[in-house]
Amino acid sequence: MVNMQANSDPWEQVAQRLGTDLFLDLQPDPSASARGRGARLRRSLAAALRAAIDDGRLPAGTRLPPYRSLAADVGLARGTVSAVYQELIAEGWLVARQGSGTRVAATARQPASRPADSARPPAPTPVHDFALGQPNPSLFPRTDWVASTRRAIMAAPDEAFGPGHPQGSAPLRRSLAAYLSRARGVEADPEQIVLTTSVMHALELLSRNVFDGPLAVESHGLPFHRAVIERAGTATTPVAIDAGGAIIGELAADACGVLLTPSHQFPTGVPLSPTRRAEVIDWARAGRRLVVEDDYDGELRYDREPIGALQSLGPDVVIHTGSVSKSLSPAVRIAWLVLPPHLVDTVVRSKGIREPDASIVDQLVLADLIDSGAYDRHIRRSRQYYRRRRDRLTARLAEAGLGLPGIAAGLHAVIPIPAALEPIIARAAERRGFALAPLGLFRHPAAPVPAVGGGDPAGSRTGGIVVGFGTPAASTFAVDVDALVALITDHLVTAERAHR
Ligand SMILES: Cc1ncc(COP(=O)(O)O)c(C=O)c1O
Repeated sequence: MVNMQANSDPWEQVAQRLGTDLFLDLQPDPSASARGRGARLRRSLAAALRAAIDDGRLPAGTRLPPYRSLAADVGLARGTVSAVYQELIAEGWLVARQGSGTRVAATARQPASRPADSARPPAPTPVHDFALGQPNPSLFPRTDWVASTRRAIMAAPDEAFGPGHPQGSAPLRRSLAAYLSRARGVEADPEQIVLTTSVMHALELLSRNVFDGPLAVESHGLPFHRAVIERAGTATTPVAIDAGGAIIGELAADACGVLLTPSHQFPTGVPLSPTRRAEVIDWARAGRRLVVEDDYDGELRYDREPIGALQSLGPDVVIHTGSVSKSLSPAVRIAWLVLPPHLVDTVVRSKGIREPDASIVDQLVLADLIDSGAYDRHIRRSRQYYRRRRDRLTARLAEAGLGLPGIAAGLHAVIPIPAALEPIIARAAERRGFALAPLGLFRHPAAPVPAVGGGDPAGSRTGGIVVGFGTPAASTFAVDVDALVALITDHLVTAERAHR
């Protein structure tokens, strides 16, 4: 392997032009004879130079080092390196001009993209992007984030850039404790908070060390959250949901706890009713069980009455978790667990001293964003933006005779359709360039499949199409919604006609 940023000046010029080191892998064969080794090295050098030109590491016009320097680096005679250059000149890879040395030819083959990229075809970009419940990327508060970065980094003591605390950065735990108490009614002390990279990671930590039996989960939820819990060793059992959320009276007796989305059931959108909120706390206390509250979009509520966190009803039995994936961006990998005090050590042990993905630097920035009030302003702005979208979607669907169940909250909605139509609409959606998901995608494998409507396929709307209304671009949102309404109504009308 030859480091092309070796001692002589021309190498440095090359490196400067490339802005980086360039390595030529000559793959020496130690078992070959001295003569054989020379021939092999010569062929390897030619191949390595062709590869470096071909994959763009040596761009057109790059000046190659003089024979002498390269010969010294690779342990070949000058004449041999000269022969390699002549070979590549003859093949059109290099050009030699009196006084300006040997350079990569302007016409040398330069691939449009690297082989690794071309091996993986890019995913088609959806025409109507109702991808599940993601925030609109154009809303990311870039200016506030930059201002917070500057303030947080300049103010941080040197120790902040050393190994972090296993529970996560203390400033962010303090800011979050105040924020969660103010905005969500969570009873949180910074000492009870453990920071993670995502709700998914938080669930994995709990599954590894805290759950000691099967965990009940809502019959519909994120499949990859269930998968991570199960991979970490905890079985999941579904509990049915109705208009009042999870049916607490039907929770399995042997469950060690239950994972709920009480503020806004994911994906159906219903909140857990006040009676059931009290009921689940009693259930947990009576059986020494735990309730995991996934408060994934608690702040994004568009009705007048906010629904507070369940945790405040039972801080001794409720583990509250949330992240900034919905409120800010899934690209900022920061989430939290607010734990009953007796579980903190267990979770910290499960997490280990150095969590691989969490950036303490980003945690400091988020702390500043919260403390400066910019996070609250961003939430308020987001609420207005998404409320308008939700209103537009609701109005257009209503015009077409379709209602949206669930509360006005979050970044997604479920359009009720007959269960039998789910796969048909999902296929048509793919053909028409939509990114969206059938409700069935979220069903626990052991949960009952909804009746497909018997003899009344158009009337029994036990299925649904889940649409994230945050993602479409502002410039196309109206058109996207119209196309969505057309997609659904086309199929409903056809199904109704077929039934008549
Ligand atoms: C139900 C639910 N919980 C939690 C989250 C947050 O996920 P994470 O923090 O793992 O990105 C999401 C985000 O899409 C979600 O839909």
